[in-house]
Amino acid sequence: MSTAESKTGLTATERSKIEMLSQHYEDKRSACIEVLKYVQGQYRWISNHHLSEIAALLNMSRAELEGVATYYNLIFRQKVGEHVIFLCDSVSCWIMGRDVICEHLRRRLGIEPGETTADGAYTLLPIVCIGHCDHAPAMLLDDELHGDLDIKRIDALLASPTERGL
Ligand code: FES
Repeated sequence: MSTAESKTGLTATERSKIEMLSQHYEDKRSACIEVLKYVQGQYRWISNHHLSEIAALLNMSRAELEGVATYYNLIFRQKVGEHVIFLCDSVSCWIMGRDVICEHLRRRLGIEPGETTADGAYTLLPIVCIGHCDHAPAMLLDDELHGDLDIKRIDALLASPTERGL
């Protein structure tokens, strides 16, 4: 994963990969989410500079691609931490104590929802139902789904990210 500031632009390898991804579609624009996810995988977020480059490569207007990127809540348009916690804020999770979990995360990480810890380790974000209602309260930690959350479980998840291969 490149950590370079995105003002440097996409590399030749990244541009080739985008070209390859878009060839799977009759209309290049259909590859836009796949391409956004690929570039996000390289930089952890989609900068304005990268958004413009991607739009040009996919024959889209910048506004059109911005609309897709903004609508899709797993695409980050601002820098995020090394790990992203999406805490569900839909009804089943509220009923099952999502507030307690959120409060614990706020205290433990020292941030509010929407913020990133000072060391850049964690970003805490709300998300609508992630389809794990039968195990509410639930959250995504990076791409891992976690349910039946309680304070003990949160502490265990935050204590050993490396042991979980993150
Ligand atoms: S309401 Fe939280 S996972 Fe569905």
